[in-house]
Amino acid sequence: DKGEFRHYMMKEIYEQPDVIRQCLEGRVSETRLLEQAFGVKAKEVLDQTQAIQIIACGTSYHAGMVAKYWIESLAGIPCQVEVASEYRYRKTVALPNSLFITISQSGETADTLAALRKAKDLGFTASLTVCNVPGSSLVRESDLAIMTNAGPEIGVASTKAFTSQLTALMLLTIALGRRHGMVDQVEEEIIKDLVKLPELVEKAIALDDKIEKMSQAFAEKHNSLFLGRGAMFPIALEGSLKLKEISYIHAEAYPAGELKHGPLALVDKDMPIVTVAPHNDLLDKLKSNLEEVRARGGELFVFADEKSKVKDADGLTVLNMPSCSDLMEPILYIIPLQLLSYHVAVLKGTDVDQPRNLAKSVTVE
Ligand code: F6R
Repeated sequence: DKGEFRHYMMKEIYEQPDVIRQCLEGRVSETRLLEQAFGVKAKEVLDQTQAIQIIACGTSYHAGMVAKYWIESLAGIPCQVEVASEYRYRKTVALPNSLFITISQSGETADTLAALRKAKDLGFTASLTVCNVPGSSLVRESDLAIMTNAGPEIGVASTKAFTSQLTALMLLTIALGRRHGMVDQVEEEIIKDLVKLPELVEKAIALDDKIEKMSQAFAEKHNSLFLGRGAMFPIALEGSLKLKEISYIHAEAYPAGELKHGPLALVDKDMPIVTVAPHNDLLDKLKSNLEEVRARGGELFVFADEKSKVKDADGLTVLNMPSCSDLMEPILYIIPLQLLSYHVAVLKGTDVDQPRNLAKSVTVE
């Protein structure tokens, strides 16, 4: 039931504050990750884990890419991420004491399942899935499952599943961090941030009217570029995937530092460039990348907070986001990109919930 919404996708975007709450429910106190957050069996597995291999497809792969930034910076253990369709067909090497993690909304994606089956012979200590569908194949065949609890996702373009995956992966990062020298104070800060996050997501959703206006600049375009740095690069990737899959506009994402190595040649006035630019350590670098783009006549759309101090100017439109801590940025900043692609698709009159050529659950290769 779509309720008051025209499409499931919009309903699911609006559900995200609640979805984050549901994912935290029963797993955290106000300041701590609960000992049994992932069940009793998880303790032994996490105690042994010295390295991580993440496998997923599409949006779930982008969640895995964000998790890599978190796991390596907060838990200090090596984390590799790869798309399932590549991993399953190549000769791979597992690091000692590594945990094999799949991420999947449906739990039925053929390539991800095949990668899990392959991993069983490679010497991983255990397998864990971050999954939204109870009783799905990945849940049944993995040693451990962290359920994302986002509820059924109907729109083919994944939205709430992604934010719930990130929430669950942040909790997993804490569980790993605890075993690798993360101090209590850091854990406390992250948990407090997560508990506050649903309200921030509500504020981001409240920018919908402004984003709808912004979407008009995209409807007639054929190409677009998405830029980010650090953990915001996977968010640029996910934003570009949303736009291409439902609006059929070609969208490419780049880590902003790569611009001068090629994509800068594409930039002209017909190329809108979306940038996720929250205030963080990489902002100054990102800003100089944006200047490179502006100098070549590109039209910039920048999602930034007050502290970022990016101002509207000729060829540059800013969408002011609520401020949040660095670690929450990926979860918060995907919201406006979801809304942007939704409105562009509606303007173009595409079938938002059922984009051409795509299926919700990719159970065949
Ligand atoms: C994009 C999208 C797909 C899925 C991918 C993996 O919006 O929905 O890219 O993310 O097919 O699906 P799951 O997560 O079910 O394994």
